[in-house]
Amino acid sequence: MRIITAGVALAALMFAMPVAKAADPIVLKFSHVVAENTPKGQMANKFKDLVAERLGGKVVVEVFPNAQLYGDNKVLEAMLLGDVHMAAPALSKFKKYTKSLQLFDLPFLFKNIEAVDRFQQSEAGQQLLLSMKKKGIIGLGYLHNGLKQLSASSPLRVPADAHGMKFRIMTSDVLAAQFEAVDALPVKKPFSEVFTLLQTRAIDGQENTWSNIYSKKFFEVQPYITHTDHGLIDYMVITSTEFWTDLPEDTRKELKAALDEAVAFGNKVALAKAESDKKLIMDSRRSEIIELSDDERAKWVEVMKPVWKKFESQIGKDLIDSAAASNAAS
Ligand code: SIN
Repeated sequence: MRIITAGVALAALMFAMPVAKAADPIVLKFSHVVAENTPKGQMANKFKDLVAERLGGKVVVEVFPNAQLYGDNKVLEAMLLGDVHMAAPALSKFKKYTKSLQLFDLPFLFKNIEAVDRFQQSEAGQQLLLSMKKKGIIGLGYLHNGLKQLSASSPLRVPADAHGMKFRIMTSDVLAAQFEAVDALPVKKPFSEVFTLLQTRAIDGQENTWSNIYSKKFFEVQPYITHTDHGLIDYMVITSTEFWTDLPEDTRKELKAALDEAVAFGNKVALAKAESDKKLIMDSRRSEIIELSDDERAKWVEVMKPVWKKFESQIGKDLIDSAAASNAAS
């Protein structure tokens, strides 16, 4: 009898005591438009794993690839509304928020990814991460994908081969000017629509990296790819200033460290894929890869490079000069 009474008393006490409940984890939604087997897809997944390992219980990263949650045309608005917390759009997709990042779209600006890297890590490159701060967006770092190639329904060796052809481009006025310079017709469309547009012949071609051409199967519906290395698709990993500054300081530091590590991993994937995805496309024999002679390449440079001058006042001459100077090895 006494035991029963003690048990009842203990149960009553337990109900009366406030239960110390662990705080709900912060959910960090990371949205992107590419496949998981790409530099960005792998970087995002690595970040998720590192956060689970180091901040498990405090922060949970949810990754949404393949534009499942938002396309790049909507993701920045969604971020400002707090519906998504991280994304890594291509540098060509920030036109509404800053003119400076148009720099990265100038044709034939960088010789190779090492030059891109030197510029991005320079003071001028790091300043650009803050170019959208007043609009509520901050850049946490750059991620490489690679240099762009031209794919088309007919062979492109010299600029005249592109006359009158429709090319899908990202939402960038510099890219529009680049195709207009070769008398082609640029068509701004989201990444998620490119395969169908090519397959149905609604457009004749597009520009992209080896990894995007392979992972999204563009090579299966484009019989020719010209190895031009004429431009760049790199990313800025972004978050909203409000979300980032509201995080507890130690959590913010840990997230930044995990992100830096994930980006370093993604950059290694990017370098490897620029080689291996090109080879996979070549081996598939679905698409012929055209290698340009020096003379042929010089013709593309000659007609496209004047685009720099057109955008000089929007981007800033000093910035263009400092990016171009990164081609000289330090
Ligand atoms: C991406 O790599 O995120 C997409 C690039 C594109 O829109 O072509």
